[in-house]
Amino acid sequence: MSNIQIPRGTQDILPGVVEKWQFIEKKAKEICGKFQYKEIRTPIFEQTELFQRSVGDTTDIVQKEMYTFEDRGGRSLTLRPEGTAAVVRSYAENKMYGQAVQPVKLYYFGPMFRYERPQAGRYRQFVQFGIEAIGSDDPSIDAEVISLAMELYRELGLKKLRLVINSLGDSSSRKAHRDALIAHFKPSIGEFCGDCQQRLETNPLRILDCKKDRDHELMKTAPSILDYLNDESRSYFEKVKKHLTDMQIDFVVDPTLVRGLDYYNHTAFEIMSEAEGFGAITTLCGGGRYNGLVQDVGGPDQPGIGFALSIERLLSALDAEGVELPHEEAVDCYIIALGDEAMDYSMPLLQQLRREGFSAEKDYMGRKMKAQFKAAERLHAQHVLIIGEDELEKGLAVIKDLQTGEQKDVPLENIVSFLKREG
Ligand code: HAM
Repeated sequence: MSNIQIPRGTQDILPGVVEKWQFIEKKAKEICGKFQYKEIRTPIFEQTELFQRSVGDTTDIVQKEMYTFEDRGGRSLTLRPEGTAAVVRSYAENKMYGQAVQPVKLYYFGPMFRYERPQAGRYRQFVQFGIEAIGSDDPSIDAEVISLAMELYRELGLKKLRLVINSLGDSSSRKAHRDALIAHFKPSIGEFCGDCQQRLETNPLRILDCKKDRDHELMKTAPSILDYLNDESRSYFEKVKKHLTDMQIDFVVDPTLVRGLDYYNHTAFEIMSEAEGFGAITTLCGGGRYNGLVQDVGGPDQPGIGFALSIERLLSALDAEGVELPHEEAVDCYIIALGDEAMDYSMPLLQQLRREGFSAEKDYMGRKMKAQFKAAERLHAQHVLIIGEDELEKGLAVIKDLQTGEQKDVPLENIVSFLKREG
């Protein structure tokens, strides 16, 4: 029988690497605490219709990338390809618009699923950290959301970043731009791929995001959304930019940034890695404003903005910039027990040490003393406690500090206080 292998585009995160993930999670949660975002956990699967309505029927995600299945009750369900739709659904369903504290500021961590062609930085299961601020349409919250992402990267030690922003305008600006795009592409649409030909009717903005036709002449001369912003949208965008400038957050404006999901309007942004040696896919983080989305999933008309970033791409960027995150944690003490009696004695001792707050380990492999020492070193043990028959008889243990090499006889009843003093 052949071996069973991990599904394509997924990965096991093993001890030794998982510590990096935990470190990033801890940092992100700390920052969310400072910014007053609260954690939300939503199901891994949702009704398929949620993503069709929010991410958009004509997007690549919905058309080509969803893991959709029918459950035994005949309902169409989908493994979530992103987090925003579910958070907004939960916001509406739990009537969070009625909460005393507004806007509602939420964050999430969790696996997302997209049936994409696996390559560096592109997985079929990946983990997003994201935030959503729902209930305010003040440009300062746009700047806050962007700054939270930048702050996380800064605290983790990334330097080579590029923040790109754009405005997609409100619905009337978008409509004017849409008409201009149709007029621009229609005469030569035959030269574009089949997808783009369809997009012209359904969602012409998506043409600008096409990977196949990226180099077509008409792409370069396509009407820019920034020329179609009405006064309100323009002044909103100006205020977001002013806040970013005041906060000394560098950015560039790219009018071709359209994002791959349909729910966006006004502010859209992406953060790229500029590190050398980073793969072809350089987007670390993407987000934007989605006024209207709450209503689309059945709630009241409430504005929102957020972003999501994947831990996989963040780790690649850290790698590319040569930033080391702390990995394995050292064990506080390792008990080397020699002989049956000492072995027996070590079990309640381990329990006591762990209850006192130490990380503690012993040998379970019946190793000789030398091999047990090796095992302790491999775990980067601070102290080893040596207990043999002789020591037991005398009522003491030998405690050796593996850093300094210092060694002391310590009465068994004083082990905990001794280790506490040693720190
Ligand atoms: P998105 O641009 O589709 O936006 O994804 C956000 C981030 O998820 C990307 O910048 C990238 O870091 C990561 N990502 C996406 N696909 C993959 C993949 N196949 N493998 C690894 N990482 C990936 C959203 O998902 C929106 N929900 C963001 C948002 C939140 N907008 C407003 N609020």
